[in-house]
Amino acid sequence: MDVLITADEIRERIDRMAAEIGAAYHDGRPVTVVGILTGCLVFMADLIRRIDLPVRVAFITASSYRGEATTPGKLLIRDELLPDIRGRHVLLLDDILDTGKTLTRVVAHLLDRGAETVKAGVLLRKVGRQEVPFDPDFVGFTIPDRFVVGYGLDFNDEHRHLPYIGVLDGPAA
Ligand code: XMP
Repeated sequence: MDVLITADEIRERIDRMAAEIGAAYHDGRPVTVVGILTGCLVFMADLIRRIDLPVRVAFITASSYRGEATTPGKLLIRDELLPDIRGRHVLLLDDILDTGKTLTRVVAHLLDRGAETVKAGVLLRKVGRQEVPFDPDFVGFTIPDRFVVGYGLDFNDEHRHLPYIGVLDGPAA
């Protein structure tokens, strides 16, 4: 598998993202970091340990890529694991921004649940794929339009454990 982003590059970028996030909150109140399962897993675990803020941790699920399919179906949001976020600062984390539909929908959902503010952070943002306008507050890396795995990202639930971001579909044509 071709390595697109090495583990060292990720570590270094996450340090800087954590500093950017720390600088974006000023009122000393806790931030509820909400990860979108399952892709957020590794990114969130690494990032929250570097954020110098009082942090609460929570999860939500939003699935559109299912089984073998790589084309998005209907987005299903489940929030049984979400605590009461009314009046809270929420930092939403996802592994990758592709069309933008997931984050747009989940941000609306969190505001609907009463969050006072919702900022969004993604490890990766694919260029040339966005279908709905959405600008994450924090972006780790901008990547080309390739199917990537590792560091939480999967294909059929495999490869999530890889410490780097790899390209599954081979070298660029
Ligand atoms: P949207 O299109 O809503 O999609 O921004 C975000 C979700 O799509 C999945 N996704 C990928 N997963 N490698 C993956 O493992 C990829 O290259 C990829 N592109 C999109 C992912 O679940 C993300 O949360």
